[in-house]
Amino acid sequence: MKVAFVGKGGSGKSTIAGTFARVLARRGEAVLALDSDPLPGLPYALGLPVDDRPIPDDAVVAGPEGGPRWVLSPGLDPATIIERYAVLGPDDVRYLQFGNTSGHISTIQRAQFAWSETVKGVDTDRWNLVGDLPGGTRQAMLGWGSYADCAILVAEPTSKSLHSARRLLRLSDADWGPTTVLIVANKVRHADDAERISSRLERPVTIVVPMSAEIMAGDRLGVAPLDVDPDGSFVESVRALVDHVAGLYHHVEEAP
Ligand SMILES: Nc1ncnc2c1ncn2[C@@H]1O[C@H](COP(=O)(O)OP(=O)(O)O)[C@@H](O)[C@H]1O
Ligand SMILES: [Mg+2]
Repeated sequence: MKVAFVGKGGSGKSTIAGTFARVLARRGEAVLALDSDPLPGLPYALGLPVDDRPIPDDAVVAGPEGGPRWVLSPGLDPATIIERYAVLGPDDVRYLQFGNTSGHISTIQRAQFAWSETVKGVDTDRWNLVGDLPGGTRQAMLGWGSYADCAILVAEPTSKSLHSARRLLRLSDADWGPTTVLIVANKVRHADDAERISSRLERPVTIVVPMSAEIMAGDRLGVAPLDVDPDGSFVESVRALVDHVAGLYHHVEEAP
């Protein structure tokens, strides 16, 4: 699988993406969790204490005269970077961070360059990719999720979230065009919430994730969804989402 979670900030992308990655990994799949949000929420959902551990900037050196500005250090390739710098989390998910916004600008840019090169060259026969994008439309439209062939759009039943989601539906037409855009209705409380999301977006909702008091309590304590409420409604819905996406890929494989 190569999926990327998009949606407005606060809609629940990181919480769902991290749980998705662990559920998939528990099925025996190798999972690389790709965090490109400079304000990362993904480690929490993975159950990782990581705050800020970008790829060190010495993974990158200046490019040759007249060539690209930067290249990966000699001897470093995507597989080596993952082995060395991706953080190993619960259920054996590997977490690769883009780098946050503090520090010297050149340090940040080099770490982000290393991250992008790694994602471009990752061995997708080996790794499932589960990405978490920054909130909103800008980075998504610019192709920050272009490693993915399936975008998962997380929308809350609020008008602001839906406004952002409507714009993100245009991702299907973006240059990097994910083949599939699925809609997840999150923080659903009322019987008609999912229906409202679906009619506002003029698309069916793939999975409904209820608002969960247990997940909120876990958030306050800093405990990941899968650890605080493994059999509750939130995790059940994410399992259904993993099933759905797995079904899409299965279908593709079987096509003549
Ligand atoms: N279904 C849910 N039920 C309860 N709280 C949720 C649910 N989904 C997300 N949250 C909470 O909403 C907040 C924002 O979620 P987060 O995943 O960080 O959003 P994003 O990554 O889209 O900015 C977090 O406090 C998270 O714990
Ligand atoms: Mg987030």
